[in-house]
Amino acid sequence: MDEDHYHSDIKFLPPPNPHDIVALDAIRAQGNICPTANIDPEKESIFAVYDVSDELLEQYQSHFPYKVAVRWQIVTADLPIHYDWGTSSDKYLYLIDTGGDDVKTEFYSELDDDPIEGGSLDIEGRTLIKTIQEVPNSWFRINVKTPHRVVGITRPRIALIIRPSVLAFHERKGPLCP
Ligand SMILES: [Fe+2]
Repeated sequence: MDEDHYHSDIKFLPPPNPHDIVALDAIRAQGNICPTANIDPEKESIFAVYDVSDELLEQYQSHFPYKVAVRWQIVTADLPIHYDWGTSSDKYLYLIDTGGDDVKTEFYSELDDDPIEGGSLDIEGRTLIKTIQEVPNSWFRINVKTPHRVVGITRPRIALIIRPSVLAFHERKGPLCP
Protein backbone atom coordinates (compact mmCIF):
# COMPACT_ATOMS: atom_id res chain seq x y z
CA MET A 1 0.00 0.00 0.00
CA ASP A 2 1.42 3.38 -0.86
CA GLU A 3 2.36 5.96 1.75
CA ASP A 4 -0.64 8.12 1.01
CA HIS A 5 -3.17 5.42 1.88
CA TYR A 6 -3.11 6.46 5.56
CA HIS A 7 -1.87 10.03 5.61
CA SER A 8 -0.67 12.83 3.37
CA ASP A 9 0.34 16.43 3.75
CA ILE A 10 -2.06 18.78 1.99
CA LYS A 11 -0.90 21.80 0.05
CA PHE A 12 -4.09 22.85 -1.75
CA LEU A 13 -5.77 24.20 1.39
CA PRO A 14 -4.61 27.54 2.82
CA PRO A 15 -4.23 28.02 6.56
CA PRO A 16 -7.18 29.75 8.26
CA ASN A 17 -6.83 33.49 8.69
CA PRO A 18 -5.74 34.28 12.25
CA HIS A 19 -8.88 36.36 12.82
CA ASP A 20 -11.04 33.33 11.96
CA ILE A 21 -9.42 31.18 14.63
CA VAL A 22 -11.74 31.26 17.60
CA ALA A 23 -10.60 30.89 21.20
CA LEU A 24 -11.42 27.60 22.91
CA ASP A 25 -13.95 29.16 25.31
CA ALA A 26 -15.76 30.87 22.44
CA ILE A 27 -15.92 27.65 20.44
CA ARG A 28 -17.32 25.80 23.43
CA ALA A 29 -19.85 28.55 24.16
CA GLN A 30 -21.62 27.65 20.89
CA GLY A 31 -22.75 24.29 22.24
CA ASN A 32 -21.67 20.88 21.01
CA ILE A 33 -23.60 20.09 17.83
CA CYS A 34 -22.79 16.43 18.18
CA PRO A 35 -23.56 15.64 21.85
CA THR A 36 -23.79 11.90 21.21
CA ALA A 37 -20.37 11.79 19.63
CA ASN A 38 -18.78 10.28 22.68
CA ILE A 39 -16.87 7.14 21.83
CA ASP A 40 -17.92 5.43 25.05
CA PRO A 41 -21.39 6.65 26.18
CA GLU A 42 -20.64 5.42 29.73
CA LYS A 43 -17.77 7.82 30.10
CA GLU A 44 -17.41 11.56 30.31
CA SER A 45 -17.46 13.11 26.86
CA ILE A 46 -13.97 13.47 25.39
CA PHE A 47 -15.04 14.54 21.90
CA ALA A 48 -17.06 17.57 20.80
CA VAL A 49 -17.86 19.16 17.44
CA TYR A 50 -18.85 22.77 16.74
CA ASP A 51 -19.90 24.84 13.74
CA VAL A 52 -17.43 27.22 12.16
CA SER A 53 -18.31 30.73 10.94
CA ASP A 54 -19.99 31.13 7.55
CA GLU A 55 -16.78 32.82 6.36
CA LEU A 56 -14.67 29.76 7.15
CA LEU A 57 -17.23 27.38 5.70
CA GLU A 58 -17.44 29.30 2.45
CA GLN A 59 -13.68 29.76 2.21
CA TYR A 60 -12.97 26.04 2.45
CA GLN A 61 -16.02 24.91 0.49
CA SER A 62 -14.57 26.78 -2.47
CA HIS A 63 -11.66 24.29 -2.62
CA PHE A 64 -13.85 21.20 -3.04
CA PRO A 65 -16.05 20.04 -5.94
CA TYR A 66 -18.48 18.40 -3.48
CA LYS A 67 -20.28 19.63 -0.36
CA VAL A 68 -18.09 19.59 2.73
CA ALA A 69 -18.68 19.95 6.45
CA VAL A 70 -16.19 22.26 8.17
CA ARG A 71 -16.09 21.99 11.95
CA TRP A 72 -14.15 22.77 15.04
CA GLN A 73 -13.35 19.55 16.87
CA ILE A 74 -12.20 19.50 20.49
CA VAL A 75 -10.76 16.31 21.98
CA THR A 76 -9.79 16.19 25.66
CA ALA A 77 -8.34 12.70 26.11
CA ASP A 78 -6.74 9.95 24.03
CA LEU A 79 -9.10 8.48 21.44
CA PRO A 80 -9.35 4.69 21.56
CA ILE A 81 -8.83 2.75 18.36
CA HIS A 82 -11.82 3.29 16.04
CA TYR A 83 -13.21 3.84 12.57
CA ASP A 84 -14.84 7.23 12.04
CA TRP A 85 -18.59 7.25 11.39
CA GLY A 86 -19.73 8.29 7.92
CA THR A 87 -19.01 6.97 4.47
CA SER A 88 -15.90 8.86 3.44
CA SER A 89 -12.33 7.78 4.08
CA ASP A 90 -10.93 11.30 3.70
CA LYS A 91 -10.75 13.66 6.63
CA TYR A 92 -8.69 16.86 6.50
CA LEU A 93 -7.30 18.32 9.70
CA TYR A 94 -5.59 21.55 10.65
CA LEU A 95 -4.45 21.42 14.26
CA ILE A 96 -4.55 24.71 16.13
CA ASP A 97 -3.25 22.77 19.13
CA THR A 98 -2.20 19.12 18.86
CA GLY A 99 -3.37 18.54 22.44
CA GLY A 100 0.03 17.76 23.93
CA ASP A 101 3.77 17.92 23.39
CA ASP A 102 4.01 14.41 21.92
CA VAL A 103 0.72 13.52 20.21
CA LYS A 104 0.64 10.76 17.63
CA THR A 105 -1.96 9.21 15.35
CA GLU A 106 -1.44 5.49 14.99
CA PHE A 107 -2.89 3.29 12.24
CA TYR A 108 -3.52 -0.39 12.89
CA SER A 109 -4.23 -3.44 10.76
CA GLU A 110 -7.80 -4.34 9.85
CA LEU A 111 -9.58 -7.52 10.91
CA ASP A 112 -12.13 -9.46 8.85
CA ASP A 113 -15.35 -8.52 10.65
CA ASP A 114 -14.47 -4.89 11.43
CA PRO A 115 -17.43 -2.46 11.69
CA ILE A 116 -16.08 0.00 9.14
CA GLU A 117 -19.32 2.05 9.27
CA GLY A 118 -17.90 3.47 12.51
CA GLY A 119 -17.18 2.82 16.17
CA SER A 120 -14.46 1.80 18.58
CA LEU A 121 -12.58 -1.47 18.37
CA ASP A 122 -10.48 -3.92 20.31
CA ILE A 123 -6.78 -3.45 19.75
CA GLU A 124 -6.08 -7.13 20.38
CA GLY A 125 -4.77 -9.01 17.35
CA ARG A 126 -3.88 -5.84 15.43
CA THR A 127 -0.48 -4.68 14.28
CA LEU A 128 0.69 -1.07 14.38
CA ILE A 129 1.20 -0.13 10.72
CA LYS A 130 2.04 3.55 10.72
CA THR A 131 2.60 6.36 13.23
CA ILE A 132 2.11 10.03 12.44
CA GLN A 133 3.93 12.52 14.63
CA GLU A 134 1.46 15.38 14.73
CA VAL A 135 2.43 18.95 13.99
CA PRO A 136 0.20 22.03 14.39
CA ASN A 137 -0.60 24.69 11.79
CA SER A 138 -0.55 22.67 8.60
CA TRP A 139 -3.23 20.75 6.70
CA PHE A 140 -3.04 16.99 6.43
CA ARG A 141 -5.40 14.19 5.41
CA ILE A 142 -5.93 10.92 7.22
CA ASN A 143 -7.80 7.82 6.14
CA VAL A 144 -10.51 7.43 8.80
CA LYS A 145 -11.74 4.15 7.32
CA THR A 146 -8.70 2.35 8.67
CA PRO A 147 -8.38 1.50 12.39
CA HIS A 148 -6.69 4.44 14.10
CA ARG A 149 -6.24 6.08 17.48
CA VAL A 150 -4.75 9.29 18.87
CA VAL A 151 -2.39 9.08 21.84
CA GLY A 152 -0.56 11.60 24.03
CA ILE A 153 -3.38 14.11 24.63
CA THR A 154 -2.74 16.08 27.82
CA ARG A 155 -4.67 19.29 27.08
CA PRO A 156 -7.60 20.19 24.80
CA ARG A 157 -6.80 19.24 21.22
CA ILE A 158 -8.26 21.86 18.86
CA ALA A 159 -8.68 21.01 15.20
CA LEU A 160 -10.33 22.53 12.18
CA ILE A 161 -11.68 19.57 10.25
CA ILE A 162 -13.14 19.12 6.77
CA ARG A 163 -14.98 16.11 5.47
CA PRO A 164 -17.53 15.40 2.76
CA SER A 165 -20.97 16.42 4.02
CA VAL A 166 -23.99 14.19 4.13
CA LEU A 167 -26.19 17.26 4.57
CA ALA A 168 -27.36 19.89 2.12
CA PHE A 169 -25.91 23.34 2.76
CA HIS A 170 -29.10 24.77 4.31
CA GLU A 171 -29.36 21.77 6.66
CA ARG A 172 -25.83 21.99 7.95
CA LYS A 173 -26.87 22.94 11.47
CA GLY A 174 -29.07 19.88 11.69
CA PRO A 175 -28.88 17.16 14.32
CA LEU A 176 -26.63 14.87 12.29
CA CYS A 177 -22.88 14.95 12.75
CA PRO A 178 -21.30 14.40 9.36
FE1 LIG B 1 -10.97 9.19 13.91
